[in-house]
Amino acid sequence: MVQDRTQTGKQHPSGTSVDSYAGFGGLPPLVGLHSMREAATTGLTVGESVARLKRLHWSLKKMHRIFVSRITSMPIYELKMAFSLHAYYCAEHLGELAARVRELRQPPYGLEVSPHASLDLFFDEILAAPSTEALLLGLYEYAIPAVLRALERVIVDTNRLFDHPTYRICRLTLVELQDVQSYGTNAVGCLVEEGTRRDLQEWVATLDRMLAAAGDLDGKKEPTGEEVARHFSTLPYKYDPVPKRDVRFKDSYNMGVNAEALLFASDVAPFPKLIMLFYKRLREIDVPEMMASILSETSDKPSGYCRYMTRQLWDEARHAMMGEIGLVAMGIDWTDIPIDFTWSLGLNTMLTSKERHALLYTVEHGLMQKKTGKQYEWKVALASANPLAAMIQDYDWADEVLHARIGKDWIVPEIGSQAEALALGEKASSKILANWRKWKEEGLTEHRNWWPEIYRAACQHQGIEPDPKLLAYNTTYENARTDGSVRETAGVRGA
Ligand SMILES: [Fe+2]
Ligand SMILES: [Fe+2]
Repeated sequence: MVQDRTQTGKQHPSGTSVDSYAGFGGLPPLVGLHSMREAATTGLTVGESVARLKRLHWSLKKMHRIFVSRITSMPIYELKMAFSLHAYYCAEHLGELAARVRELRQPPYGLEVSPHASLDLFFDEILAAPSTEALLLGLYEYAIPAVLRALERVIVDTNRLFDHPTYRICRLTLVELQDVQSYGTNAVGCLVEEGTRRDLQEWVATLDRMLAAAGDLDGKKEPTGEEVARHFSTLPYKYDPVPKRDVRFKDSYNMGVNAEALLFASDVAPFPKLIMLFYKRLREIDVPEMMASILSETSDKPSGYCRYMTRQLWDEARHAMMGEIGLVAMGIDWTDIPIDFTWSLGLNTMLTSKERHALLYTVEHGLMQKKTGKQYEWKVALASANPLAAMIQDYDWADEVLHARIGKDWIVPEIGSQAEALALGEKASSKILANWRKWKEEGLTEHRNWWPEIYRAACQHQGIEPDPKLLAYNTTYENARTDGSVRETAGVRGA
């Protein structure tokens, strides 16, 4: 007969001492969060916990701003992508931290108020870092480590049972920010030479002093109170809206190959269309470059706006990397393809942030159309019998459905109605797509037809003969969409 262990006194020797206390049958007490001694002796007050959370929230908000602000003007593609991810992590976690503060009965919450002037100074300096190397050192050797320290201290100091939601949020934040740190350390190792580090020694020492003046990022230490002078941030930081690319990106005004005309042609086989699909994905580098400008110029929005727009920004960075994967897997050296930046350049320098957002929404709304949108691209990928392409387009489509909704949630109410938002997007699009001839006349590009050599290389890698008719493909963007409908020809630019 099975004995009911819950009924035998011997099975639950709870004990009366915090050191000998145990649960039923030896189970850990307190669901394993703490030993009884730890639980009885550890903890921050609600006020102390809120103070730490507010500093963390403020710091992630500042770091989000730094990452976003530097995406457009960051020439190095890999860092542009990494900043997109790191901004996304900051946006997600700062929202969770703010929500936790609001649960802790400390109104007014003061989430918009700086917890310490020296902390602001510290982040201002990193935001204003005049070089990639200085930015990397500031972010990944000072800011992120300080946030990690603060998270680790909350995890150790707070009572895991009493303040469990805080404990949990900080632990989850820690996991992702440790990834950020690890990438950052790697980036510093790859890109910061010893001489440059020496040259920046004095500056980074001031970063340390700024943190010390604030009692460290979390305020746990005694603030030194020192008034540290500004170094790089004597003039207020100004966001640079002009996209920059690294040396692998050549001929950045080239719009000599119309990807959509080939993609939508009914008499073209799926294989060459795949090249265009992956090219279009990689070209999406310009979407984070553009969305960063919207976020940088609209700082007065609710936190949900920041969170979802940053999520979308990161998705678009992922789309670019999906294209990179696709091209590499096809044996194509993507640096031979001019990945133009004319879209982000045009939007960022010629349109208001509201027009940019309306245009983005208009494009993504159009991508929901079955015949010319994301479903069509997915079907092309399926028809190609290339599982990688099918998977990429499957997720790309899923993301775009979310993006159309984000636009509907945020820009449509701001403008008034869907019809007005789409009309503004159409109008804005017309403004930026009339420069094809101008760039050629100004000598910025010849709009060279790069298609034949890329198509030939892909065929060679695939072990197939190129189709002479496709080798002769020579349709440019010269006459594409200067007054037509963005929605009808959503492919003019994908987002
Ligand atoms: Fe999108
Ligand atoms: Fe996209």
